[in-house]
Amino acid sequence: MDENAPLLVFILLLFCSRISSSFSNGFFYQDILNGNGNGEIYFNGVKLRVEAQPPSAVPVRGGNVTLPCRFWYEPELSVPRRVRVKWAWLPVSGDSESDVLVAIGHRHRSFGHFKDRVFLRQDVPGDISLIISNVSLRDGGQYRCEVIDGLEDESAAVHLELRGVVFPYQPHRGRYHMSFAAARRACEEQDAAVATFQQLYAAWREGLDWCNAGWLADGTVQYPITQPRSPCGGLDLGPGVRSYGARHKLSHRYDVFCFSSFIRGRVYFLQHPQRLNFSEAVQACITDGGEIATVGQMFAAWRFLGLDRCDAGWLADGSLRYPITKPRPNCGPQEPGVRSFGFPSPHHKHGVYCYSSK
Ligand SMILES: *[C@@H]1O[C@H](CO)[C@@H](O)[C@H](O)[C@H]1NC(C)=O
Ligand SMILES: *[C@@H]1O[C@H](CO)[C@@H](O)[C@H](O)[C@H]1NC(C)=O
Ligand SMILES: *[C@@H]1O[C@H](CO)[C@@H](O)[C@H](O)[C@H]1NC(C)=O
Repeated sequence: MDENAPLLVFILLLFCSRISSSFSNGFFYQDILNGNGNGEIYFNGVKLRVEAQPPSAVPVRGGNVTLPCRFWYEPELSVPRRVRVKWAWLPVSGDSESDVLVAIGHRHRSFGHFKDRVFLRQDVPGDISLIISNVSLRDGGQYRCEVIDGLEDESAAVHLELRGVVFPYQPHRGRYHMSFAAARRACEEQDAAVATFQQLYAAWREGLDWCNAGWLADGTVQYPITQPRSPCGGLDLGPGVRSYGARHKLSHRYDVFCFSSFIRGRVYFLQHPQRLNFSEAVQACITDGGEIATVGQMFAAWRFLGLDRCDAGWLADGSLRYPITKPRPNCGPQEPGVRSFGFPSPHHKHGVYCYSSK
């Protein structure tokens, strides 16, 4: 008896790890004991398989994206079975999982902000790839396609990642003035979304260094440091993303890190005979068939379209900036970046950057 005890524990551990390695919807399958630990389930000698290949997709904002997924039976069935297909989404912001679409045969229903924007490809039998049209900044995250056949179900995950750029944002009132809700509004007004920790971390790895703390999508406040120095957490700490942890969303005030994605269209410095005050600048872009560019559009054009111009111009929030991808004398620091002159008086006369979707 004593000799067998370790073996029993070992077997129990094996079962536990099998159960937790496959997705569970609350039912207990008798066939879990027959599973091979790779998330496969057998019933009546038939195995239902679900696969998402490739497991990630990188769409363009405003475009369409296909999240691959297919299912099949082993051995193959002679008569097709009626299955229920469900796609769910776990947002990067750390909110809980929500339904995207459920389908039986050719009938389907979509939910929430995916309503009427998603459908199944169903090109060939077993194809349950999800097509999302007009992809938005909010759509990033982990998707799960699930096939339910009677009591059996299987699922596979697909990651959707928007290529983007993270930028720190401070409103014209100055440093540390935004509650979490105000921070979210500020990013939206700049055609961007509050950055997630993963996005800020990726930006830090690419060299982002910023000494003011900003909100992130999960309600924490952090800042990225690549060159440790004394006012920014001190020299004792190594480079890293420094965190103040979760802050009170209503009463605490900080700056924010926004995330802007690749954009269709173009951002350009308006050729105009005179320099313009702010209200003239807004109007001049409209007259030119576009609109004054937001900060998010400026960063996206700088990062993805290589926008480089050594002339300061108005942007939609009333700030004055210019984008440099090839640093040179008299155009700011040695590193590429979007340079900012802050928020000058709206009566001052400058150039302007416009955005056109065409
Ligand atoms: C995206 O899909 C929709 C719906 O099928 C289609 O009307 C539209 O033309 C597609 N857009 C692009 C850019 O492919
Ligand atoms: C795409 O989505 C945006 C919001 O994310 C909306 O403003 C725009 O009208 C949508 N475009 C189409 C063609 O549905
Ligand atoms: C900009 O100049 C116009 C005159 O061209 C004037 O009417 C307007 O009030 C000025 N706006 C600002 C913000 O100075």
